[in-house]
Amino acid sequence: KFTPRIFSGIQPSGGLTLGNYLGALKRFVEKQNEGIETIYCLVDLHAITVWQDPEKLRAQTREAAAGFIAAGIDPRRSILFNQSQVPGHAQLAWIFNCVARMGWMGRMTQWKDKTAGKNAEAESLGLFAYPSLMAADILLYHATHVPVGEDQKQHLELTRDIAAKFNHDYGVDFFPITEPVIEGAATRVMSLRDGSKKMSKSDPSDASRINLTDEADAISQKFRKAKTDPEPLPETLEGLKDRPEAKNLVNIYAALADMTTEAVIAEFGGKGFGTFKPALVDLAVAKLAPISGEMKRLMADPAEIDRTLGDGADRANAIASPILRQTYDIVGM
Ligand code: ADP
Ligand code: NA
Repeated sequence: KFTPRIFSGIQPSGGLTLGNYLGALKRFVEKQNEGIETIYCLVDLHAITVWQDPEKLRAQTREAAAGFIAAGIDPRRSILFNQSQVPGHAQLAWIFNCVARMGWMGRMTQWKDKTAGKNAEAESLGLFAYPSLMAADILLYHATHVPVGEDQKQHLELTRDIAAKFNHDYGVDFFPITEPVIEGAATRVMSLRDGSKKMSKSDPSDASRINLTDEADAISQKFRKAKTDPEPLPETLEGLKDRPEAKNLVNIYAALADMTTEAVIAEFGGKGFGTFKPALVDLAVAKLAPISGEMKRLMADPAEIDRTLGDGADRANAIASPILRQTYDIVGM
């Protein structure tokens, strides 16, 4: 009933990280190149669930768009746009706010993590309801598949629950039950400073992450200072089990080189970090320098980026509008 269509998004709440690249962007490009219909969104409505400086938000949105294009998203083959320019996202989110239950939101581990040790009552209502907007992002296009990192798995399950409850409550088979696509060696890239936290653009420590705009010497510094244990790399994958920092660097290497983690271990097993880290730095610089160079070139012409995003929004809206119209009809509006 539903033709394959891919949707995914990234928040323009800071610069793009290596985690965003390996867990999301690189996969987005692969899906585009497989010839599936691909729709990618800079989710600025999600970004403002935590206060953003308006000028920075505007700049980060353009920078993220440049990152997508530099990484290989072709805005003629994929639809690339900014969430707030397609009003259907907020409109469908409202309907889903009335379908989803408070308890579902309260059980989200990301909500719990983001409010841990803080007064949750003082967080924005938007942060609490974020997964409902995410469901709207996806279902507004009847997307069947969503490539994401592991951190989004639970939100994707909630999207499925919302689609199923809507279909059930209104006695229709209108929204697809979307499949998460979590693939590859780096579905959860960890912080370089703390092996128990994911690498994130919103981590206050810049040393914890590689930014797509980092220069070669920053990449080198950050990997060389990355927290590790003193042991050489193990000879088998098993040996990485209780070594989260070592495992993270091996996963990053594998994903950047398009190798399996087994193959990386076969090459570097028994070698110390004094050998492995410089090899990782060389690989990361070789893969990321062309992307950051292209981003700089694109960001020199913000008007062109705005035109690209405007065109993407028109095309996104052409798909979204009839689906929203039908949703309103189903609901009795
Ligand atoms: P961030 O935490 O950097 O703000 P987003 O919430 O904007 O990331 O997520 C955008 C996409 O990047 C999602 O698909 C998410 O799963 C993926 N992603 C984010 N951080 C990581 C990570 N550390 N490892 C793998 N994928 C990640
Ligand atoms: Na996130």
